Amino acid sequence: MPVGSQIRFCTTLLAGAAALTFACAIAEEASRNLEATVEASPQMSAKPPAIPAAGPLAEPKSLKQVGLPVEATRAAVPADNPQTPEKIALGQKLFFDGRLSVDGTVACSTCHDPARAFTDGRPASIGVKGRVGQRNAPTVLNALYNKTQFWDGRAKTLEEQAALPITNPSEMGQPNVDAAVAQIAALPEYQQVFRSVFGHPPSGPDLVRAIASYERTQFSFDSPFDHFIAGDKNAISESAKRGWELFNTRARCNKCHALTEEKRDATYFTDNDFHNIGIGIIRHDVVALACQAEQLINSGNTIAVDQAAIQTNMSALGRFLITKKDADIASFKTPDLRNVLITAPYFHDGSQETLWDVMDHYNKGDGIHNPYLDADMQPLALSEGEIDDVVALLATLTSAQYTEHGVKELARQRELSRTNRSQRDTARAFGPKPTQPKPSRSCVTTPPEATPK
Ligand code: HEC
Ligand code: HEC
Repeated sequence: MPVGSQIRFCTTLLAGAAALTFACAIAEEASRNLEATVEASPQMSAKPPAIPAAGPLAEPKSLKQVGLPVEATRAAVPADNPQTPEKIALGQKLFFDGRLSVDGTVACSTCHDPARAFTDGRPASIGVKGRVGQRNAPTVLNALYNKTQFWDGRAKTLEEQAALPITNPSEMGQPNVDAAVAQIAALPEYQQVFRSVFGHPPSGPDLVRAIASYERTQFSFDSPFDHFIAGDKNAISESAKRGWELFNTRARCNKCHALTEEKRDATYFTDNDFHNIGIGIIRHDVVALACQAEQLINSGNTIAVDQAAIQTNMSALGRFLITKKDADIASFKTPDLRNVLITAPYFHDGSQETLWDVMDHYNKGDGIHNPYLDADMQPLALSEGEIDDVVALLATLTSAQYTEHGVKELARQRELSRTNRSQRDTARAFGPKPTQPKPSRSCVTTPPEATPK
């Protein structure tokens, strides 16, 4: 991969951020190592799915939705990228355009399909040349409110985020963002629009600005839960009401899926923080991976970390890849829970198929043998009826546009859960909280005595 060109884009996009541009320049080695990993990856499928078209569900959303936080929605627009209808329309066109990818086969919408609440319904996404990544595609709906982007928060803004899938070899596969810009700039249909929106021909920074503007129109509220909170007592079932009580009490969901633990949060369902809740640590030796990662990503470089996260087993390290703090090993961002019924499968690795599996995971407090597990994880002793109540609550977070889809999906998941509850462990759920081992980590490859004095 011509890493030199990646570095050029880094300098354009991040002009001014001296530390980051320096980091870009030392990505070369890491990128080469990672490229070898991708070529050797055994997880290949034939080809990516057809690019979903932009239907009515892709349109910019109305600000008049029950439950929408008007102030926060306005505040999410940065001063250097104001919203205009023309820019939003350009961003929408780009979001659905496969010509941003290296071989024309993959658009943002391939993995963020409006018909599936801007996800792809797969455990891990398929990009160019049928390459399968390591992570589950989160929804773009309400991503404008995220304090950081990606499961590990490695991008701060939607603009910064949008550049990374374009160059990730397992996503859109471009050698650099300039290559995507060149493909777009060659098309007359784009030349004129870029000029009229930005005053000059297509460029990398403007490309990601337009896409981010479009994403900032994808707010999604107006769910039965929002109507319930707004005062319509009949908007949700008695079971879902019991689920909301449990969510904020014995089920402990509010410890992470709420802005604060003091006050009920009926809007965001996230603390904007990172936690190790025991996902993926069963399949991976995270300590060995952490040692390996330190060697590879000491540069702190954005592109190198992006490739490690999507293409290698180091993906399981989560937030550690960014902070290199042991406390962040296998920690991931608390996701918003809106529309969660239709964004299956679940968790950063798409490892759980239904909301009942998710509940079984929490109920047994899985992963407690892992020293880095969040202290808020513990057996919950929820009965089957109480699990159904929390699932019923989660189902009420489906926005009006997806009502029909939600009904079908709930029936599908309920059916599956009747025959398969692979995560259920009632004895552990009702058992005592096991003692957690203390963290201790030493890397054989870099013993302390090898560090120069
Ligand atoms: C091949 C599939 C694929 C393509 C193509 C793709 N994405 Fe994603 N997207 C993902 C995956 C997987 C993640 C999560 C990766 C991670 O967290 O490490 C993600 C994460 C995101 C997030 C972060 C959301 C959050 O809650 O943190 C946003 C926003 C996003 N993508 C927008 C885009 C845009 C814009 C494009 C096109 C420029 C795009 N994606 C192209 C698969 C894809
Ligand atoms: C200790 C913090 C914490 C607690 C407590 C917690 N969560 Fe989570 N939740 C997270 C984090 C972090 C993730 C992402 C983890 C990952 O993918 O590795 C997550 C993921 C999820 C997901 C998957 C969402 C998706 O888009 O894939 C659902 C659903 C969920 N949580 C619901 C709940 C419910 C219901 C409860 C209460 C029973 C709960 N959570 C308790 C932190 C927490």
